[in-house]
Amino acid sequence: MHIMNLKKINKFVYEIFLNHNLSSKDAKISAKALINAELVGAHTHGLSRLAMYCKRIKKKIINPKAKIKIKKISQSITHIDAKNSIGFVAADIGIKTAIKNAKKTGIGLVAIKNSGHYGLSSYYAEQAIKKNLMVWCFTNAPPAIAPFGAKKSLFGTNPICFGTPTGNKVPFILDTSVSMINRGKIRVAAKLGHKIPLGVALDKFGKATTDAKKALKGVQLPIAGFRGSGLAWMVDIMSGVLTGANHAGKVKDPFDDFTGPQNVGHLFLVLKPGIFVGKNYIKRIKENIKIIKKLPKIKGVQEILYPGQGMSARYKQNLKKGIVVPKNILEDLIKLHAVI
Ligand SMILES: NC(=O)c1ccc[n+]([C@@H]2O[C@H](COP(=O)([O-])OP(=O)(O)OC[C@H]3O[C@@H](n4cnc5c(N)ncnc54)[C@H](O)[C@@H]3O)[C@@H](O)[C@H]2O)c1
Repeated sequence: MHIMNLKKINKFVYEIFLNHNLSSKDAKISAKALINAELVGAHTHGLSRLAMYCKRIKKKIINPKAKIKIKKISQSITHIDAKNSIGFVAADIGIKTAIKNAKKTGIGLVAIKNSGHYGLSSYYAEQAIKKNLMVWCFTNAPPAIAPFGAKKSLFGTNPICFGTPTGNKVPFILDTSVSMINRGKIRVAAKLGHKIPLGVALDKFGKATTDAKKALKGVQLPIAGFRGSGLAWMVDIMSGVLTGANHAGKVKDPFDDFTGPQNVGHLFLVLKPGIFVGKNYIKRIKENIKIIKKLPKIKGVQEILYPGQGMSARYKQNLKKGIVVPKNILEDLIKLHAVI
């Protein structure tokens, strides 16, 4: 285990992306998104994925110099063809465009096709919230969850993300996979030989398993049974069917399938929160959170947290502590850094 300060790790990852033919601007965008995942404690979406992105660039299924096409449909709506760019860059353009549209008209909708895995939805949501806007982010992922009633996995862990300013420093950001746990956690457990909790996955015979490797070959379970399956389906429609991206189980697994680009879809919806209640919005949301936080608590709970509070606390801590790089990941990074 090695602890690197933020500046050093940022520069290192930036140089790795440069070595893999990203422009300086795009390398900066990608390094920042990846390091942010480490800062918020989402290690499964941070440095551990860097080798995968680089491998996909080397195999020419991520285009580091993609000529991303931006088509303005109206003052509020934009359609982006990412042309198989790295997901971070397409998503960065997407959220910035949605913010710009929302500032102009009150609402900004951006659909992106032909993209790749973009990391954490919350990272993009935060950008809109910083501009005092409300935001929804959707993206589809490779097959992991069996649709309710089916034996075979087809839906991704398809995260749903909603964020809003709260009138205090910590925004409300609900950013959740629709699977019992995210797939990255199962991958890491498989790599380290750790068990996964019971009730999150079935093996390929449909039997509950705590063996991560068997879970990866079987199916992950959605949150709340058919309700979670329905939410995964909704995200597949919004991110895939609507945008023009792959859907219905066709998004390729970034780790295991190098037969072509992933063609992931993203959908960003950004809104001025005051469109109905004007300046009162912040007063109203403050009141909403205050009422909920004051509820009597169950035993063992010190504070009722709203989504996003934990992430913000981890970010602050890690900012001070630096980025912890496990030995095997450090070895990968050094190899990637040396490749020109
Ligand atoms: N790009 C992709 O294909 C993809 C796929 C799946 C997940 N992801 C990302 O992975 C990340 C992790 O997803 P996850 O499902 O593991 O998230 P998680 O289970 O860690 O958290 C889900 C949500 O619950 C909230 N939360 C957690 N504990 C809470 C508490 N005690 N009280 C109130 N709220 C609480 C969190 O703030 C978060 O908004 C997300 O950022 C997601 O966007 C990306």
